[in-house]
Amino acid sequence: MTATPVIAPYPATRLRRLRRTPAIRALTAEHALSVSNLIWPIFVTEVPGAEGEIASMPGVERLTLDGARRAAERAARLGIPAICIFPHSDPALKDETCARAWDADNIGNQAIRAVKEVAPDLAVMTDIALDPYNINGHDGLVRDGIILNDETVEALVRMGLAQADAGADILGPSDMMDGRIGALRAALEAAGHKDVAILSYAAKFASSFYGPFRDAVGASGRLVGDKKTYQINPANRGEAIRCVARDLSEGADMVIVKPGMPYLDLCREVKDRFGAPTFAYQVSGEYAMLEGAIRAGWLSRDAVAESLLGFLRAGCDGVLTYYAPQVAETLAAG
Ligand code: PBG
Repeated sequence: MTATPVIAPYPATRLRRLRRTPAIRALTAEHALSVSNLIWPIFVTEVPGAEGEIASMPGVERLTLDGARRAAERAARLGIPAICIFPHSDPALKDETCARAWDADNIGNQAIRAVKEVAPDLAVMTDIALDPYNINGHDGLVRDGIILNDETVEALVRMGLAQADAGADILGPSDMMDGRIGALRAALEAAGHKDVAILSYAAKFASSFYGPFRDAVGASGRLVGDKKTYQINPANRGEAIRCVARDLSEGADMVIVKPGMPYLDLCREVKDRFGAPTFAYQVSGEYAMLEGAIRAGWLSRDAVAESLLGFLRAGCDGVLTYYAPQVAETLAAG
Protein backbone atom coordinates (compact mmCIF):
# COMPACT_ATOMS: atom_id res chain seq x y z
CA MET A 1 0.00 0.00 0.00
CA THR A 2 1.38 3.37 -0.94
CA ALA A 3 0.70 6.37 1.29
CA THR A 4 -0.32 9.63 -0.35
CA PRO A 5 2.56 12.02 0.17
CA VAL A 6 1.57 15.30 1.75
CA ILE A 7 4.38 17.77 1.49
CA ALA A 8 4.05 21.33 2.67
CA PRO A 9 6.09 23.76 0.63
CA TYR A 10 9.57 24.74 1.73
CA PRO A 11 10.46 25.96 4.31
CA ALA A 12 7.64 24.27 6.29
CA THR A 13 8.98 21.03 4.91
CA ARG A 14 12.69 20.55 5.31
CA LEU A 15 13.35 16.85 4.68
CA ARG A 16 16.84 17.26 6.11
CA ARG A 17 15.35 17.71 9.61
CA LEU A 18 14.92 13.94 9.88
CA ARG A 19 18.43 13.26 8.65
CA ARG A 20 20.16 15.53 11.16
CA THR A 21 21.45 13.11 13.82
CA PRO A 22 22.08 9.36 14.02
CA ALA A 23 19.27 9.07 16.60
CA ILE A 24 16.70 10.75 14.39
CA ARG A 25 17.88 8.79 11.36
CA ALA A 26 17.54 5.54 13.32
CA LEU A 27 14.06 6.52 14.44
CA THR A 28 12.91 7.16 10.89
CA ALA A 29 14.65 4.24 9.15
CA GLU A 30 12.11 2.35 7.04
CA HIS A 31 14.07 -0.91 6.88
CA ALA A 32 16.70 -2.64 8.94
CA LEU A 33 18.82 -5.60 8.04
CA SER A 34 18.39 -8.44 10.51
CA VAL A 35 20.10 -11.80 10.79
CA SER A 36 16.70 -13.43 10.33
CA ASN A 37 16.63 -12.12 6.74
CA LEU A 38 19.58 -14.29 5.73
CA ILE A 39 20.00 -17.67 4.06
CA TRP A 40 23.63 -18.78 3.77
CA PRO A 41 24.59 -20.86 0.69
CA ILE A 42 27.57 -23.18 1.24
CA PHE A 43 29.55 -25.49 -1.07
CA VAL A 44 30.39 -28.98 0.14
CA THR A 45 32.90 -31.17 -1.68
CA GLU A 46 33.58 -34.87 -1.63
CA VAL A 47 36.74 -34.50 -3.70
CA PRO A 48 39.92 -34.78 -1.64
CA GLY A 49 42.00 -31.63 -2.08
CA ALA A 50 39.16 -29.58 -3.61
CA GLU A 51 38.36 -27.85 -0.34
CA GLY A 52 39.50 -24.27 0.10
CA GLU A 53 38.95 -20.88 -1.46
CA ILE A 54 37.14 -20.55 -4.80
CA ALA A 55 39.28 -18.38 -7.08
CA SER A 56 36.40 -16.35 -8.54
CA MET A 57 34.71 -15.97 -5.13
CA PRO A 58 37.48 -14.74 -2.82
CA GLY A 59 36.52 -15.34 0.80
CA VAL A 60 34.19 -18.24 -0.05
CA GLU A 61 35.39 -21.81 0.40
CA ARG A 62 34.44 -25.27 -0.69
CA LEU A 63 33.99 -27.20 2.54
CA THR A 64 34.53 -30.80 3.54
CA LEU A 65 31.75 -32.52 5.48
CA ASP A 66 33.54 -31.48 8.66
CA GLY A 67 33.75 -27.94 7.35
CA ALA A 68 30.00 -28.06 6.70
CA ARG A 69 29.44 -29.12 10.31
CA ARG A 70 31.51 -26.19 11.52
CA ALA A 71 29.64 -23.81 9.19
CA ALA A 72 26.33 -25.08 10.57
CA GLU A 73 27.49 -24.53 14.13
CA ARG A 74 28.63 -21.04 13.19
CA ALA A 75 25.29 -20.27 11.51
CA ALA A 76 23.39 -21.51 14.57
CA ARG A 77 25.60 -19.48 16.92
CA LEU A 78 25.06 -16.35 14.83
CA GLY A 79 21.30 -16.87 14.61
CA ILE A 80 21.25 -17.33 10.82
CA PRO A 81 17.96 -19.21 10.30
CA ALA A 82 18.88 -21.27 7.24
CA ILE A 83 21.79 -22.72 5.33
CA CYS A 84 21.58 -23.85 1.71
CA ILE A 85 23.75 -26.78 0.60
CA PHE A 86 25.36 -26.98 -2.85
CA PRO A 87 27.30 -30.15 -3.64
CA HIS A 88 30.64 -30.29 -5.45
CA SER A 89 30.66 -33.89 -6.54
CA ASP A 90 33.36 -36.23 -7.79
CA PRO A 91 33.71 -35.59 -11.55
CA ALA A 92 34.54 -39.25 -12.13
CA LEU A 93 31.04 -40.18 -10.93
CA LYS A 94 29.13 -37.74 -13.15
CA ASP A 95 27.21 -39.34 -16.00
CA GLU A 96 24.31 -38.77 -18.38
CA THR A 97 21.75 -40.57 -16.23
CA CYS A 98 22.47 -38.30 -13.22
CA ALA A 99 21.44 -41.24 -11.02
CA ARG A 100 23.64 -40.03 -8.17
CA ALA A 101 21.31 -37.06 -7.81
CA TRP A 102 18.81 -39.27 -5.96
CA ASP A 103 21.31 -41.51 -4.19
CA ALA A 104 20.62 -41.34 -0.45
CA ASP A 105 24.38 -41.17 0.15
CA ASN A 106 25.38 -38.56 -2.40
CA ILE A 107 27.47 -35.71 -1.04
CA GLY A 108 24.51 -33.33 -0.85
CA ASN A 109 22.48 -35.76 1.25
CA GLN A 110 25.48 -36.61 3.45
CA ALA A 111 25.87 -32.88 4.07
CA ILE A 112 22.19 -32.49 5.02
CA ARG A 113 22.54 -35.24 7.64
CA ALA A 114 25.87 -33.87 8.90
CA VAL A 115 24.43 -30.38 9.37
CA LYS A 116 21.27 -31.69 11.05
CA GLU A 117 23.37 -33.72 13.51
CA VAL A 118 25.22 -30.68 14.82
CA ALA A 119 22.54 -28.02 14.40
CA PRO A 120 19.09 -29.62 14.44
CA ASP A 121 17.26 -26.30 14.70
CA LEU A 122 19.00 -24.71 11.74
CA ALA A 123 16.75 -24.91 8.66
CA VAL A 124 18.44 -26.81 5.86
CA MET A 125 17.64 -25.82 2.30
CA THR A 126 18.69 -27.78 -0.77
CA ASP A 127 19.08 -27.22 -4.48
CA ILE A 128 17.10 -29.44 -6.83
CA ALA A 129 18.69 -29.57 -10.28
CA LEU A 130 20.78 -32.24 -11.95
CA ASP A 131 23.86 -30.13 -12.74
CA PRO A 132 26.11 -31.27 -9.86
CA TYR A 133 25.79 -34.85 -11.06
CA ASN A 134 25.40 -34.31 -14.80
CA ILE A 135 28.34 -35.02 -17.10
CA ASN A 136 27.33 -32.14 -19.40
CA GLY A 137 26.63 -29.55 -16.70
CA HIS A 138 22.92 -29.09 -17.50
CA ASP A 139 20.14 -28.94 -14.93
CA GLY A 140 18.14 -31.46 -16.94
CA LEU A 141 18.59 -34.76 -18.76
CA VAL A 142 19.91 -34.29 -22.28
CA ARG A 143 19.12 -36.39 -25.35
CA ASP A 144 20.48 -35.46 -28.79
CA GLY A 145 21.30 -32.00 -27.52
CA ILE A 146 17.74 -31.40 -26.25
CA ILE A 147 16.95 -30.87 -22.56
CA LEU A 148 14.14 -33.28 -21.78
CA ASN A 149 11.42 -31.73 -19.65
CA ASP A 150 9.16 -34.51 -18.41
CA GLU A 151 11.90 -37.12 -17.87
CA THR A 152 13.86 -34.50 -15.94
CA VAL A 153 10.86 -33.72 -13.72
CA GLU A 154 10.70 -37.42 -12.75
CA ALA A 155 14.40 -37.36 -11.87
CA LEU A 156 14.02 -34.12 -9.90
CA VAL A 157 11.17 -35.58 -7.89
CA ARG A 158 13.37 -38.54 -6.93
CA MET A 159 16.16 -36.12 -6.02
CA GLY A 160 13.84 -34.00 -3.88
CA LEU A 161 12.41 -37.03 -2.06
CA ALA A 162 15.93 -38.23 -1.23
CA GLN A 163 16.72 -34.78 0.20
CA ALA A 164 13.54 -34.78 2.26
CA ASP A 165 14.39 -38.29 3.52
CA ALA A 166 17.84 -37.00 4.52
CA GLY A 167 16.15 -34.35 6.67
CA ALA A 168 15.96 -31.21 4.51
CA ASP A 169 13.45 -28.60 5.69
CA ILE A 170 13.21 -26.54 2.52
CA LEU A 171 13.60 -27.84 -1.03
CA GLY A 172 14.84 -25.39 -3.64
CA PRO A 173 14.02 -26.46 -7.21
CA SER A 174 16.36 -24.34 -9.35
CA ASP A 175 16.07 -26.27 -12.61
CA MET A 176 13.29 -24.31 -14.37
CA MET A 177 11.59 -27.34 -15.93
CA ASP A 178 7.84 -27.02 -16.45
CA GLY A 179 5.61 -28.89 -14.03
CA ARG A 180 8.21 -29.66 -11.40
CA ILE A 181 6.59 -27.88 -8.48
CA GLY A 182 3.27 -29.69 -8.82
CA ALA A 183 4.96 -33.05 -9.30
CA LEU A 184 7.23 -32.49 -6.30
CA ARG A 185 4.42 -31.30 -4.05
CA ALA A 186 2.28 -34.34 -4.91
CA ALA A 187 5.20 -36.72 -4.33
CA LEU A 188 6.04 -35.12 -0.97
CA GLU A 189 2.43 -35.48 0.18
CA ALA A 190 2.31 -39.10 -0.94
CA ALA A 191 5.59 -39.90 0.81
CA GLY A 192 4.48 -38.42 4.14
CA HIS A 193 6.69 -35.34 3.81
CA LYS A 194 3.71 -33.02 4.00
CA ASP A 195 5.53 -30.35 6.01
CA VAL A 196 8.62 -30.06 3.84
CA ALA A 197 8.56 -26.58 2.30
CA ILE A 198 9.27 -25.67 -1.30
CA LEU A 199 11.16 -22.46 -1.98
CA SER A 200 10.91 -22.31 -5.74
CA TYR A 201 13.47 -20.58 -7.90
CA ALA A 202 10.45 -19.27 -9.75
CA ALA A 203 11.90 -16.20 -11.50
CA LYS A 204 15.28 -17.56 -12.49
CA PHE A 205 16.97 -15.88 -15.41
CA ALA A 206 19.56 -17.19 -17.89
CA SER A 207 22.27 -15.05 -16.39
CA SER A 208 25.99 -14.43 -16.84
CA PHE A 209 26.13 -13.72 -13.13
CA TYR A 210 26.23 -17.46 -12.30
CA GLY A 211 29.77 -17.86 -13.68
CA PRO A 212 31.66 -18.05 -10.37
CA PHE A 213 29.08 -20.52 -8.96
CA ARG A 214 29.76 -22.87 -11.84
CA ASP A 215 33.47 -22.69 -10.92
CA ALA A 216 32.54 -23.44 -7.32
CA VAL A 217 30.56 -26.58 -8.14
CA GLY A 218 32.93 -27.70 -10.90
CA ALA A 219 30.41 -27.24 -13.73
CA SER A 220 32.23 -24.50 -15.65
CA GLY A 221 34.27 -26.41 -18.19
CA ARG A 222 31.48 -28.94 -18.62
CA LEU A 223 28.45 -26.99 -19.68
CA VAL A 224 27.63 -27.92 -23.26
CA GLY A 225 25.84 -24.92 -24.77
CA ASP A 226 23.84 -22.68 -22.45
CA LYS A 227 20.71 -22.78 -20.28
CA LYS A 228 18.56 -20.48 -22.41
CA THR A 229 15.99 -23.15 -23.32
CA TYR A 230 14.91 -23.39 -19.69
CA GLN A 231 15.99 -20.27 -17.77
CA ILE A 232 14.15 -17.00 -18.43
CA ASN A 233 15.36 -14.45 -20.97
CA PRO A 234 16.71 -11.41 -19.04
CA ALA A 235 14.59 -9.22 -21.33
CA ASN A 236 11.32 -10.68 -19.98
CA ARG A 237 9.40 -9.26 -17.05
CA GLY A 238 5.95 -10.60 -17.89
CA GLU A 239 7.20 -14.14 -18.38
CA ALA A 240 8.90 -14.05 -14.98
CA ILE A 241 5.62 -12.99 -13.35
CA ARG A 242 3.82 -15.86 -15.08
CA CYS A 243 6.47 -18.30 -13.81
CA VAL A 244 5.93 -17.12 -10.23
CA ALA A 245 2.13 -17.33 -10.56
CA ARG A 246 2.44 -20.83 -12.00
CA ASP A 247 4.80 -22.09 -9.26
CA LEU A 248 2.62 -20.69 -6.47
CA SER A 249 -0.46 -22.26 -8.02
CA GLU A 250 1.34 -25.63 -8.10
CA GLY A 251 2.19 -25.52 -4.40
CA ALA A 252 5.37 -23.52 -3.87
CA ASP A 253 5.40 -22.04 -0.36
CA MET A 254 7.91 -19.30 -1.13
CA VAL A 255 9.62 -17.94 -4.21
CA ILE A 256 13.02 -16.68 -5.32
CA VAL A 257 14.00 -13.97 -7.75
CA LYS A 258 17.44 -14.75 -9.15
CA PRO A 259 19.85 -13.04 -9.74
CA GLY A 260 19.06 -10.24 -7.31
CA MET A 261 20.50 -6.84 -8.01
CA PRO A 262 19.76 -6.62 -11.77
CA TYR A 263 16.19 -7.86 -11.10
CA LEU A 264 14.98 -5.66 -8.25
CA ASP A 265 11.96 -4.66 -10.33
CA LEU A 266 10.75 -8.25 -10.11
CA CYS A 267 11.34 -8.46 -6.37
CA ARG A 268 8.98 -5.55 -5.86
CA GLU A 269 6.41 -6.73 -8.36
CA VAL A 270 6.33 -10.33 -7.13
CA LYS A 271 5.88 -9.24 -3.52
CA ASP A 272 3.15 -6.73 -4.38
CA ARG A 273 1.23 -9.06 -6.67
CA PHE A 274 1.39 -12.34 -4.77
CA GLY A 275 2.28 -11.48 -1.17
CA ALA A 276 4.06 -14.82 -0.74
CA PRO A 277 7.39 -14.94 1.10
CA THR A 278 9.80 -13.61 -1.51
CA PHE A 279 13.56 -14.01 -1.52
CA ALA A 280 16.29 -12.58 -3.70
CA TYR A 281 19.38 -14.59 -4.50
CA GLN A 282 22.44 -12.36 -4.44
CA VAL A 283 24.29 -14.73 -6.75
CA SER A 284 27.95 -15.60 -7.12
CA GLY A 285 28.60 -12.95 -9.78
CA GLU A 286 27.12 -10.23 -7.59
CA TYR A 287 29.33 -11.43 -4.74
CA ALA A 288 32.38 -11.49 -7.05
CA MET A 289 31.71 -7.93 -8.28
CA LEU A 290 31.31 -6.53 -4.80
CA GLU A 291 34.14 -8.48 -3.22
CA GLY A 292 36.50 -7.86 -6.12
CA ALA A 293 35.90 -4.10 -5.97
CA ILE A 294 36.16 -4.07 -2.17
CA ARG A 295 39.44 -5.99 -2.21
CA ALA A 296 40.82 -3.68 -4.90
CA GLY A 297 40.03 -0.76 -2.62
CA TRP A 298 37.51 0.67 -5.11
CA LEU A 299 34.46 0.23 -2.86
CA SER A 300 34.04 0.41 0.88
CA ARG A 301 32.78 -2.72 2.63
CA ASP A 302 29.65 -0.75 3.54
CA ALA A 303 28.49 -1.54 -0.01
CA VAL A 304 27.60 -5.06 1.19
CA ALA A 305 24.97 -3.96 3.70
CA GLU A 306 23.69 -1.38 1.21
CA SER A 307 23.24 -4.04 -1.45
CA LEU A 308 21.23 -6.19 0.99
CA LEU A 309 19.11 -3.28 2.16
CA GLY A 310 18.15 -2.77 -1.48
CA PHE A 311 16.46 -6.18 -1.47
CA LEU A 312 14.45 -5.35 1.65
CA ARG A 313 13.45 -2.00 0.17
CA ALA A 314 12.33 -3.84 -2.98
CA GLY A 315 9.95 -5.94 -0.86
CA CYS A 316 11.96 -9.10 -0.22
CA ASP A 317 11.53 -11.00 3.03
CA GLY A 318 15.08 -12.22 2.88
CA VAL A 319 18.18 -12.83 0.80
CA LEU A 320 20.34 -15.80 -0.07
CA THR A 321 23.83 -14.36 0.20
CA TYR A 322 27.39 -15.60 0.50
CA TYR A 323 27.89 -12.64 2.82
CA ALA A 324 25.48 -14.09 5.41
CA PRO A 325 28.03 -15.02 8.12
CA GLN A 326 29.99 -11.80 7.68
CA VAL A 327 26.86 -9.67 7.86
CA ALA A 328 25.58 -11.64 10.85
CA GLU A 329 28.88 -11.03 12.65
CA THR A 330 28.73 -7.32 11.90
CA LEU A 331 25.13 -7.16 13.15
CA ALA A 332 26.07 -9.08 16.31
CA ALA A 333 28.93 -6.66 16.98
CA GLY A 334 26.32 -3.88 16.94
C1 PBG B 1 22.11 -24.73 -10.55
C2 PBG B 1 22.21 -23.44 -9.81
C3 PBG B 1 22.91 -22.33 -10.24
C4 PBG B 1 22.90 -21.42 -9.19
C5 PBG B 1 22.15 -21.98 -8.16
N1 PBG B 1 21.72 -23.23 -8.57
C6 PBG B 1 23.66 -22.10 -11.49
C7 PBG B 1 22.99 -22.26 -12.79
O1 PBG B 1 21.77 -22.23 -12.91
O2 PBG B 1 23.74 -22.44 -13.74
C8 PBG B 1 23.60 -20.12 -9.21
C9 PBG B 1 23.94 -19.52 -7.89
C10 PBG B 1 24.97 -18.46 -7.94
O3 PBG B 1 25.42 -18.02 -9.02
O4 PBG B 1 25.37 -18.02 -6.85
N2 PBG B 1 20.91 -25.22 -10.81
